[in-house]
Amino acid sequence: MSYGSINLADNIEFLSGISNDSVNLIYIDPPFNTGAKQSMTSLKTIRDEKGDRTGFGGNRYRTERGESRSYLDTFDDYIGYLAPRLEEAHRILTADGSLFLHIDYRESHYCKIVLDQIFGRDSFMNEIIWSYDYGGRSKRKWPAKHDSIFWYAVDPKNYTFNFDAIDRIPYLAPSLVGKEKAARGKIPTDVWWQTIVPTNGKERTGYPTQKPLAILERIVKVHSNADEMVMDFFAGSGTTGVAAAKNERFFTLVDANPEAVQVAVKRLAKYSPECVGFTPDSRLA
Ligand SMILES: C[S@@+](CC[C@H](N)C(=O)[O-])C[C@H]1O[C@@H](n2cnc3c(N)ncnc32)[C@H](O)[C@@H]1O
Repeated sequence: MSYGSINLADNIEFLSGISNDSVNLIYIDPPFNTGAKQSMTSLKTIRDEKGDRTGFGGNRYRTERGESRSYLDTFDDYIGYLAPRLEEAHRILTADGSLFLHIDYRESHYCKIVLDQIFGRDSFMNEIIWSYDYGGRSKRKWPAKHDSIFWYAVDPKNYTFNFDAIDRIPYLAPSLVGKEKAARGKIPTDVWWQTIVPTNGKERTGYPTQKPLAILERIVKVHSNADEMVMDFFAGSGTTGVAAAKNERFFTLVDANPEAVQVAVKRLAKYSPECVGFTPDSRLA
């Protein structure tokens, strides 16, 4: 059985074909308008007697550069580009649906204003801060180490929030709260500490700007129910699809970049996604 679809398309065209009131949860992580080409080259460690490093068990290894993947992240009128897509998101959400927009400090304040206009200020539920600790530290200003994830509910009085599905986190001072509470852990706040996808971790796909599965799983479990439809129309490597399928939700993924959809196909192969607008690379599936 297929849990969903992966679509190669410009999302504005794709969204125009989606019915009103048909998607329960949308998470999007659009390009952040960094003004750069986002790219990543994967690295493979290969055992080689002539390699330049000694590793586990005294074996020799060398590093080989794998495939490069990239997309352009420069916009003259970012809000002019994003706003029509946010309007479509609002149109296709169910009456109890929610949108999560993942963005960074460059455009977040402008996005908040546009979302208030489209959804209404009352529909703004949270600004979740994803805080991480990776990369260089500026000596000229406070190092920026967070992204914002805006949560808007179509109806602020009727939305999905599965409190019991929230994963608990350790208390900072467990000795102050007693054994039982310390063992259970506490509910996270709107500040989520989570490492980036580790460079050598199993989760890493090699797609630039891939987001951690733990963040997506928290959103999917708490803000949707089994068998509901979860959509990501800036899908990249398909993290949202993995979080949805693992938790028995249906997914619709859209990306305009052929490299992205191939990575998503590989990641989601075991859920037999329908591939629309492209032929999956037979070496990947
Ligand atoms: C920041 S990445 C998403 C990364 C993703 N969250 C992940 O975990 O891998 C943004 C994606 O949006 C895609 N994109 C940009 N403009 C698009 C458009 N008009 N239609 C569909 N996809 C688009 C890019 O190709 C890129 O893969």
